[in-house]
Amino acid sequence: MQLIRAWYAVELSSAVSEGSVQKLHFHGEVFAIWRSLDGKVSIVPDRCPHKGASLSAGNVGEQGLSCPYHGWCFQSDGDCAKIPAQGDDNPIPRRATLGGLPCREQYGYIWIWWDPTGQSAADDLPALPGVGPIPESDDSGWRSLEGTVVWQAHWLRVLEAFMDLTHAPFVHSGSFGAMAPDQLMPVDQWCRDDSVYERVIAPRDRHYRADQGRGLRAWFNQADEKGVDQESDDAGEQHIQLWLANVSLVRVVFGDFQISLMTAHVPMGDGTTRNLWRHFRSFLRSPLADGNARGRVDRFMAEDQRTVETLTPAMPDLDGHGDLLVASDVSTLALRRMLRQKRNDGLLI
Ligand code: FES
Ligand SMILES: [Fe+2]
Repeated sequence: MQLIRAWYAVELSSAVSEGSVQKLHFHGEVFAIWRSLDGKVSIVPDRCPHKGASLSAGNVGEQGLSCPYHGWCFQSDGDCAKIPAQGDDNPIPRRATLGGLPCREQYGYIWIWWDPTGQSAADDLPALPGVGPIPESDDSGWRSLEGTVVWQAHWLRVLEAFMDLTHAPFVHSGSFGAMAPDQLMPVDQWCRDDSVYERVIAPRDRHYRADQGRGLRAWFNQADEKGVDQESDDAGEQHIQLWLANVSLVRVVFGDFQISLMTAHVPMGDGTTRNLWRHFRSFLRSPLADGNARGRVDRFMAEDQRTVETLTPAMPDLDGHGDLLVASDVSTLALRRMLRQKRNDGLLI
C-alpha cells in the first residue's frame, strides 16, 4: 500500500556526499541516488538505458554519473552527455535519458515527489511538509546525531508506532518508559493538512513531574548538573506530530531540557521500513556525549522494533477489521481516518 502524489523523505542528506552514488529501495523499486561534484542531488531508476546495468554501481565525476558497464555519462537532469565508445561525432539518442524523480533537500533529508502515475507537473508541485520545530543546523544550543535502522514492518505500522505514546510504559519499561504514567491521554490532539498532532502533559502532581524530569536527567547521566533544580516545577510535555507521507517528530520538553527525535520512515517495499532518525538534544552538547546518546536512541529504537515487527496483520486494516482501537488510540484513529480519505481520493493505492 502506498501513498501517491506525496513528498517522502527518503535519505539523510549527509549520507550522500558530493561525488557519490548509492542504491535506494523505495516502494519495491530500486533507484540510484547520486550527488554531483557541485552538490546537486538526483534520483533516477537504477537501470542504464543502454543495456540495463545498475547505475548505483557507477561513478560520479566531472562528467556526471557514469555507468559502470560502458561508461555512458548522465548529467543531473538525467540526459546522457557522452557515449565514450563512439566519440562526439555520433548523435546521442534522445531516449538516452534517465527520467529522474523530482527531489528536494530540507530538514537534513533528501525528499522525492512520488507519483507513479506520472500525472504531476514537475514545475507545479506542492511545498514540502512544514516539519518542525527543529533546531537550525548552526544552532549552538543543540547537539544533533543521525542514524538509520531497518525494521521488518510495514511502514504504516511504523508510522502508527511513532504516534503511539501509550506503549511507552510497556515497550520501553527498560528505558524512558519506566517513568511514564500508564494514563497517557493527550491534552491536545488535532489532525489537519496531512498532519496528526498530540500533546501529552505530565500529571499535575508536582513531585511526579519532578520525578519525570529527574528520571530523564538521570537517564542522560545529568542528575546533578549545576543549575538543575530537581524539585522544579518544570511543565513536562511531549509533542508528537506526524506529517504524511512519512515523517514523525517527537519532542520531549522539560524546561530547558529538551530532546527531539525526527524520523523518516522510508517504505522499502515487502513490509520493510528504513527509519532515518535525527536526534537533537539541548544538554550535554559535547561530542563526548554522542556515544552515550546514540546508544540510548539505538536502545529504545530496538525496544520498538522488537514489538512492531510482531504485529499482525502486517499491514493495518484501515477499515477497523483486525485491530480493536479504543479512545486512547486517538492518534491512530485520526491517522487511519486521514488515510481512508486519501484512499477515497485515489491517493492510497
Ligand atoms: S549498460 Fe550502461 S553504458 Fe552500457
Ligand atoms: Fe516507542
